[in-house]
Amino acid sequence: MTLNEVRKRFLEFYKARGHAVIPSARLVPENDPTTLFTGSGMQPLVPYLLGAVHPQGRRLADAQKSFRAEDIDEVGDNRHTTFFEMLGNWSLGDYFKTEQLPWVFEFLTGDNAKGGIGLDPARLYVTVFAGDEATGIPADEESAAIWKRLFAEKGITAEYVALGSEENGSARGMQGGRIFSYDVKKNWWSRAGVPANMPAGEPGGPDSEVFYEFASVTHDPKFGAYCHPNCDCGRFLEIGNSVFMEYKKNEDGSFEKLAQRNVDFGGGLERIAAASIDDNDMFAIDVFREMAAALPAGGDTRKMRIILDHLRGSVFLIGDGILPSNKGQGYMLRKLLRRAALFSDALKPEEGWLDKMVGTVSSYYKEQYPDLDARRDEIAKAITEEFRKFGATVKEGLKEFARRAAGGSVTGKDAFDLYQSYGFPWELTEEIATERGISVDRKEFEAEFTKHRDLSRTASAGVFKGGLADASAETTRLHTAHHLLLRALQTVLGSGVKQRGSNITAERLRLDFSYDGGKLTEEEKREVERIVNEKIREDLPVIRSEMSREKAETLGAEHEFGQKYPERVSVYSVGPKDATTADPKFEDAFSIEFCGGPHVTHTGEIAGEFRIAKEEAVSAGIRRIRGVIAPRA
Ligand code: ALA
Repeated sequence: MTLNEVRKRFLEFYKARGHAVIPSARLVPENDPTTLFTGSGMQPLVPYLLGAVHPQGRRLADAQKSFRAEDIDEVGDNRHTTFFEMLGNWSLGDYFKTEQLPWVFEFLTGDNAKGGIGLDPARLYVTVFAGDEATGIPADEESAAIWKRLFAEKGITAEYVALGSEENGSARGMQGGRIFSYDVKKNWWSRAGVPANMPAGEPGGPDSEVFYEFASVTHDPKFGAYCHPNCDCGRFLEIGNSVFMEYKKNEDGSFEKLAQRNVDFGGGLERIAAASIDDNDMFAIDVFREMAAALPAGGDTRKMRIILDHLRGSVFLIGDGILPSNKGQGYMLRKLLRRAALFSDALKPEEGWLDKMVGTVSSYYKEQYPDLDARRDEIAKAITEEFRKFGATVKEGLKEFARRAAGGSVTGKDAFDLYQSYGFPWELTEEIATERGISVDRKEFEAEFTKHRDLSRTASAGVFKGGLADASAETTRLHTAHHLLLRALQTVLGSGVKQRGSNITAERLRLDFSYDGGKLTEEEKREVERIVNEKIREDLPVIRSEMSREKAETLGAEHEFGQKYPERVSVYSVGPKDATTADPKFEDAFSIEFCGGPHVTHTGEIAGEFRIAKEEAVSAGIRRIRGVIAPRA
């Protein structure tokens, strides 16, 4: 089955079961400074899992664009990609285990002709939560019993095996089981991982995973004496995970039940597509095969996979407004493109291959993500330009290599420096070194590499713990100031100003907007500041309303270019002075935007002087403002 077909079937399956299909959020989280990329379907929905009312109701389904930067070094094997789509269905305080597990089973094993994926139930193995003494959260016997019944209905006797830890699995193996229980390391899900790592206020819960068995793969003892569902040998591939998100961590480290019981299902779209063609190589699915047609056949498999993954990911990142740079998301994009450039060089593809491959991605996804197709020229240009720049960097890197190699040897540390500064992966340095007949210490390179990776993982875990989907008072004030700023920019520079990106932390706001007039003059900046501050002083009410997308569009509510919005939307309006929730007086509002909040209730709560700290170009026709709130003198 094709990737597009699997996605379509999933969304239709849940639509038929009362779910509202919502569009994917962007890969760059909105107003969430705690994480660089959206890495799972639940991330944009956290407020609703915690109890906020979702405008589309209590049953939702989606395919969420996801990016996991931390997996970049695993790409090249048969199962890892940086970018993927996570199929999701959600119960926000509605149904629970007795509906969820049968639906997952029905979707995966359901008749092909009737909208299912048609997987053989005998090839499915499942896991459930074994319980946890530290938190007192019990084993999930209910899920185990549901699975037993579901398999029995297909004539399969499903034995239950309590493994507890992964180590037990490696030591004891399958033991004829089909339902396995594992501890918190494998069958507990929260954004921060195991219960002990969760910050206070974070939701989480036991989960139940489904694995597909590839009959063609035999266990490799390198991964443990015996195989079991969570073994990494490649025989089993996790294709779906139902999280029963019903707990929240308290300040004192204990756990309590959330006000509502939620289901958060995440299914790897690419993995389900691979299972549907019974090929344990994820790069055998149709979209990758179509892309690979732009490369010469018979090239090195690992290099091919890296190019395919990185270029597909780059198209999606650029499609969501990111451009290569030396910081944050832009740096990650630059890294993807440089690695793709380097590995493709070795494959010696034909002239024009890059445009062709990028075009294939845009066309393949055009129904689900039309903006990729609409902006294909822009995307192709950004990619080609980065490849060109990288060519120049490689020349510089080769000079640096020659300088370091002049003494007759290069160290593993040198190799790592080349990797850090010029993007040289190990393979490239080794190849240069071999040409000159000198050796490089791979172990030392790897030790440096691991040290660096662990440091950056710790750093990002720290950022993450810091604030969740940050709804601190400071961030909220800056968020409202952000709305005032957009409107003030339109007043001063004209209605051509449209939001093209935003990012807000507790310290500052950042707004990217379209404007062809070049650098703002001092007078223009002062006037924009004056308007924002005037609106803060007027202490205007900030009102949230829900309405159909159509109505919001008719009202001229601001929305971001390239974003897809659901049928029912939440809108924030600022002013006029006498507006109320019952009578928002939209026609006289100062500002009105599609927005999920949070915001202050009156602009006076911004309590300070808004200042433009920096104004600069991001790319042709797009400018960026950083703004801060300074305490009033
Ligand atoms: N949130 C769950 C996951 O990402 C479904 O695996």
